Amino acid sequence: MKVLITGTTQGIGKAIAERFLKENHTVIGIDRQESSIDDVNYTHYQCDVRDYERLPELSGVNVLVNNAGTQNEQDIDVNLKALIHITEKYGIQKDIRSILNIGSASAHTGAEFPEYCASKAGILAYTKNVAMRVAPFNAICNSLDPGGVITPLNDCVINDPVLWEAIMNETPLKRWATAEEIAEWAYFLTVTNTFCTGQSILVDGGESINYNFIWKE
Ligand SMILES: NC(=O)c1ccc[n+]([C@@H]2O[C@H](COP(=O)([O-])OP(=O)(O)OC[C@H]3O[C@@H](n4cnc5c(N)ncnc54)[C@H](O)[C@@H]3O)[C@@H](O)[C@H]2O)c1
Repeated sequence: MKVLITGTTQGIGKAIAERFLKENHTVIGIDRQESSIDDVNYTHYQCDVRDYERLPELSGVNVLVNNAGTQNEQDIDVNLKALIHITEKYGIQKDIRSILNIGSASAHTGAEFPEYCASKAGILAYTKNVAMRVAPFNAICNSLDPGGVITPLNDCVINDPVLWEAIMNETPLKRWATAEEIAEWAYFLTVTNTFCTGQSILVDGGESINYNFIWKE
């Protein structure tokens, strides 16, 4: 299959690209940084997803994974508006089989930075909108909404022992996911899955159900 993934130079996007390459799919990556993947089945376009004029002309994409994302850096423009533009450009067409939007647990809880959680919450509604529009092509669209994942995006807290201990105290499973674990979910939701559509799949180790039950002793 022809697979287009944004944000493939590091973190979750790189792990998803490598997961598809392992199965010999043809993978095309778009990232504002240089490529870090060396594989004959991989083609890289160095481009900002907001630079609509410079995006490559591609046809026949079968799987689209919208993964490129930022925190506190014009998040609505990158995480939501560019995701919509990329989906309309490459995803809404007869060869599409599956679209996966990488959202966030914060879309469900409102946690983290204001623009960030709002950008991710917008993905929830847009995912349903797209699911209805690609259904006539026998295609699906879902979002994968991770909690904490060990990636360079989070280096500032991962590498701070005091902050990391505080985060683990709030985290039911006492660990964060690896990028490879999230990539496995991405592969399952886009290739193995052919019937679940318009849904937001939370993969967060219980982060979003972390509640305190107050009751009389
Ligand atoms: N790491 C987490 O804990 C976590 C949790 C929930 C959701 N997410 C989401 O997962 C996705 C990937 O996050 P990550 O942790 O791998 O981040 P990361 O910063 O490690 O990697 C993001 C990649 O996207 C690229 N990118 C960013 N902005 C871009 C732009 N404007 N144009 C083109 N490329 C761009 C970067 O160059 C980088 O290669 C993001 O959408 C993020 O919001 C991450």
